[in-house]
Amino acid sequence: MTQINRREFLRGLAWLTAALPLRELGRVRALSSRKKHVWSDGPARETDLGEWAELLRALGKHEGMTVYQESPFNAGPPLAPLRAAFETPNELFFARNHAPVPEIAAAEWCLKVDGLVARPLRLSLADLSRDFPTVELAATLQCAGNRRREMLPDADPGSAVLWGSDAISHGRWTGVRLRDVLRAAGVQESARFVAALGRDEIQKGGRVFGMGGSIPLAKALGEEVLLATGLNGAPLPPLHGGPLRLLVPGYIGARSIKWLGQITLQEEPSENHYQQRAYKVFPPEITSETVDWAQGEMLGPFRLNSAICTPAPGAQLSAGRQRIAGYAIDYEPVAAVEVSVDGGRRWQEATLLDEGQRWSWSFWEREVRLPAGRHELVVRAWDQAGNTQPATVAEIWNFKGYFNNSWQRRLVEVV
Ligand code: MTE
Repeated sequence: MTQINRREFLRGLAWLTAALPLRELGRVRALSSRKKHVWSDGPARETDLGEWAELLRALGKHEGMTVYQESPFNAGPPLAPLRAAFETPNELFFARNHAPVPEIAAAEWCLKVDGLVARPLRLSLADLSRDFPTVELAATLQCAGNRRREMLPDADPGSAVLWGSDAISHGRWTGVRLRDVLRAAGVQESARFVAALGRDEIQKGGRVFGMGGSIPLAKALGEEVLLATGLNGAPLPPLHGGPLRLLVPGYIGARSIKWLGQITLQEEPSENHYQQRAYKVFPPEITSETVDWAQGEMLGPFRLNSAICTPAPGAQLSAGRQRIAGYAIDYEPVAAVEVSVDGGRRWQEATLLDEGQRWSWSFWEREVRLPAGRHELVVRAWDQAGNTQPATVAEIWNFKGYFNNSWQRRLVEVV
């Protein structure tokens, strides 16, 4: 870890661990000198679950989380516990950060609303909760990099977070509706996009800036888009954007800006790096050497996707009846899920365990018969219009490794 990274890490940690006894904090800080990447999904690797235990405990996270980077902290939940509860417990909720968690006292928090509005606003957290109705909404948050590791198996873990199927979690969010705040500000007719800016400090290209992005005004006016202050009945944890984050259900996680400080109504999408460069998909022939950043598709709504959570990759199973289980997700509720035990030649329909709530993942399961031998389990989901996922990763390959929604394949050994 470089000096700067180490300082940033300790600064973030100090904020997150304010409530920890000093002795504990000292032990956690000692861990910050190590940097290592471990895997919970995909190609089997040696992992030492104890290695990150103290850091994870200090952050209020489950000790089985896969730590991809310690600073900024990026970690995903083990898949079996993730699949065990429809609402992901906060300790298992995946964390995706581009910079350390900012230290700003909630009492000093101020949200600016400006740009193409009739009345620019400056709102404290108290203003937000006093002037606008509080609502609760269940929604799944998914990073555009979910399943990146299957798309970029040989990538350097230092250049991108090589997520398995673990960059996804489902929560019960509380907050106020963005549209209520926009109405109070009075949106001008020429506004087309709502840009959001976080109060974290990302250092890139000699500049320091907050993570930002934008969504179309039409989406921002949807009743599902929240300024969230709570997660699963608790105050929104600092690691997840507390005290205030944008929550854009159905859109890639990058649009749900954490530590939200500013909302700007404008005619064009955000100029922020994370709207104009990162979180764009380029065609398969484009590489990091040939890329023209002005091109590419800015990512927004989820694409149809599904993953197997159990059995685990490389699992040894005993012959006979076995249960395969996982999740599926799309912008709209998925219509069906199928599994194959022979690499995708024959398919069997899985049971969807929920009614298909809007903005939420679906859990599915299927009992299959597996004779002794090696088998390739495969899953694919279908949407309401009769579309399914691409069969191979080659069809959707992009050098940034976004939106891997190819059929998921998993080898298992049956004895
Ligand atoms: N907002 C800010 N300010 N800084 C960030 O690094 N990461 C984004 C988004 N919002 C990020 C952010 C990305 S890429 C994702 S996937 C989600 O937050 C992750 O949210 P979580 O850490 O609560 O799971």
